[in-house]
Amino acid sequence: MTDTLRYLPGNQPRARWKRLETAQILKRFFFCERSLIITASAWIPHIKDLDLKMTIPYFCWQNSETANALRNRVFQLRYPSQMMEHEGADRPLVDVINQIKSAPTVGAFLKAWGEVVLPALRDAYVEFLGYADALADAPTCRFLRLAVSEKEQQIVSLKKWSDAEVTSSTGDLAITTEWVAALAKQLEALGGIGTDDAPADMAIASIPGSRELIVPNEPGRDERYWPCRFYWPDIIDPAFAYGERLRLQLRSAISHINEVWAVEHGGIALSAFAEVLPWEWIFDAARWTYDESRHCRMGQHRLADWGYSPEEIPLGNYIYQSANGQDPIYRLGMLYFFETKNIGRKPERTAAFRQIGDAASEHDMDFDWADETIHASYGNRWLRALHALDPDKYPSADKIRMHCESCVNEMIASASDAEKTAITDRANGIIKRAEAIAAQ
Ligand SMILES: [Fe+2]
Ligand SMILES: [Fe+2]
Repeated sequence: MTDTLRYLPGNQPRARWKRLETAQILKRFFFCERSLIITASAWIPHIKDLDLKMTIPYFCWQNSETANALRNRVFQLRYPSQMMEHEGADRPLVDVINQIKSAPTVGAFLKAWGEVVLPALRDAYVEFLGYADALADAPTCRFLRLAVSEKEQQIVSLKKWSDAEVTSSTGDLAITTEWVAALAKQLEALGGIGTDDAPADMAIASIPGSRELIVPNEPGRDERYWPCRFYWPDIIDPAFAYGERLRLQLRSAISHINEVWAVEHGGIALSAFAEVLPWEWIFDAARWTYDESRHCRMGQHRLADWGYSPEEIPLGNYIYQSANGQDPIYRLGMLYFFETKNIGRKPERTAAFRQIGDAASEHDMDFDWADETIHASYGNRWLRALHALDPDKYPSADKIRMHCESCVNEMIASASDAEKTAITDRANGIIKRAEAIAAQ
């Protein structure tokens, strides 16, 4: 052998995947995450338990951060190409995950999410990290390690929720179990979520027992709370003051927990426009929906801390129901216009809470304000984008706002005397208890 045919060895294990092969795998992961975010968000209005309802946007937001990091990394690795609009060979995988939207029961949705797809993704990430080069591909390794730890927590948490759901609705147990097993089988037939290998090229049939998930007219409401349409008297009775000092503390906490509708509208809009708008919409909407869930929890925590039990607290649905039967753009419009409406008053209320020494209300209102400033840009951007896409189908932002306001005003006008008496009595009871607590 001559000297010219001799080389130094280069067979280090870290050289397993080259740049474009890595991009191909990350692209697959991105589309799996994307599908999970869309399908899980669509379930939000169907969930009754408030704690579970608020957990879904949290996980979707975490997963959207992972998905966004994956997508950005694919662009870096494929530079200068900025194209990633199609699943390509990974389509069957996405078709399987998309079926979660058609799960026959809440239990089946939770199990499919937490016991089938999330473990498959986690395993794929662990496998990837086992072979990935922590030197050449260090940026990917960092965020995928975080994703693995988040997925572990999501899996544990969802198991608790799905066990509770399955136990409380035993009548659906057989349907749930069979459907989830069928989904797992489909995923297995594709070879799971692979790294080296693309999924098998096959058509995915709808699983028997699947149901079309439609936006419910009656959103799922936690039965521990007091159900109503209008959650404070001032909404339907101009004579009942919004309130100052102690009343403002209560009104603000009640407003916060009642942002449950905003979480539902966020989930519905995310999913409804996922195929109409680009990825950035899903990314923004996941954060937006998660933010609203944090605002809802802020109220839940403050009220619980003052000693109120859920059955005392009114949980309303009038804004949600005002959008029933309308195009989802009106749910997006309500989320934007009604949530950012009071943005200017928030610093004023933050100051009022500071003055009376209510640090928790001050703190929550201040963070809420920061979130709302972000939401204002989201609403502006995406309502405009929809209108630009199809001006006939999606009216201008001004028209959307006017229609949203008239829908809600109509709903308010339909308040009955009985409703007015009931919510006034309840609010007065809550205020009376607060006065007693404050006097201690
Ligand atoms: Fe909010
Ligand atoms: Fe908001």
